[in-house]
Amino acid sequence: MHVLSCPHLPEAANTPLGSEVYRGLTAHPKTLSPWLFYDSQGSELFEQITELPEYYPTRTERSILSTHADQIVAAAAGCEQITMIELGAGTATKTGLLLKAAVRRQSEVTYHAIDVSGSALDEAKRRIEAELEGVAVVPRVGDYTDGLGQIDAGGQRRMVLYIGSSIGNFEPMDALQLLRDIRKELHRGEKLLLGVDMVKDPKILVNAYDDAAGVTAAFNKNVLVRINRELGANFKLDLFRHRARWNERCSRIEMHLESLIAQHVTIPVLELEVKLQRGETIHTENSYKFRDENVIQMLERADFHLSDHWTDEREWFGVYLATAS
Ligand code: AVI
Repeated sequence: MHVLSCPHLPEAANTPLGSEVYRGLTAHPKTLSPWLFYDSQGSELFEQITELPEYYPTRTERSILSTHADQIVAAAAGCEQITMIELGAGTATKTGLLLKAAVRRQSEVTYHAIDVSGSALDEAKRRIEAELEGVAVVPRVGDYTDGLGQIDAGGQRRMVLYIGSSIGNFEPMDALQLLRDIRKELHRGEKLLLGVDMVKDPKILVNAYDDAAGVTAAFNKNVLVRINRELGANFKLDLFRHRARWNERCSRIEMHLESLIAQHVTIPVLELEVKLQRGETIHTENSYKFRDENVIQMLERADFHLSDHWTDEREWFGVYLATAS
């Protein structure tokens, strides 16, 4: 998250939110970064998205983990015991499947859950320790790879989980950098489990991001609600339309907010007037979809090699086990 620090800009543009909104809405074309979605309302809407009939990624990944948990843990552990570390753990609902398999194998397992949301981690700890005997949850509030290397695994092999296809919300060079940052923190032979969403029929992809009940539309527009509330802007929600489109060349679903009329929006604390043409969009998210060869190449460029790979019968989602080279 880059904060503009410029003496000519109003004070509010020096906060992470103000800076991002100022940067994005004065850019051509206009953009807003996806991290802005996740205030408490946005996080709640995202939880609802994961349950939608059209949004297949969460349930497909869960079914892969559920079917292959023992194999995944065995392949990661080899002859050793493992400590699990999850980046962006949230409430860790899918992780329980792997933790259960780890307990079956080694009777006790330590699970370090890293997330920016302390409340999600508290919930994860409470639930997992109540439901899974033998699991000790160590929550850590932080950003992605922060402090990964300092986690003491007591001589056990570390297995880093980065599931949920969160890697798909990064631009390709940033995704690669993230994998390199993880690799730097690991010893040779330690593991990364990466969950990614695969390229498939564009109709299925677009429906997953433009559901009939309008939950994804509300999630997308929530960014405007947040800017209205936190920066005093006057975005009128019904003057924008949620758009999800498949960009074949870049292999990504794009989410946009399209202005239905020519309009001006003011953001007083940023001393900003935003002019939008009819049909102009604010680009709010990319969700990259991968092919096998892209994932393998990305892992290799980050100094990992592929050890194993699991998918569902339609090959809609992939779970990749990589080893630090
Ligand atoms: C969090 N991330 C993996 C979701 C995705 O599918 O890219 C975010 C999302 N945006 C709209 N629906 C879901």
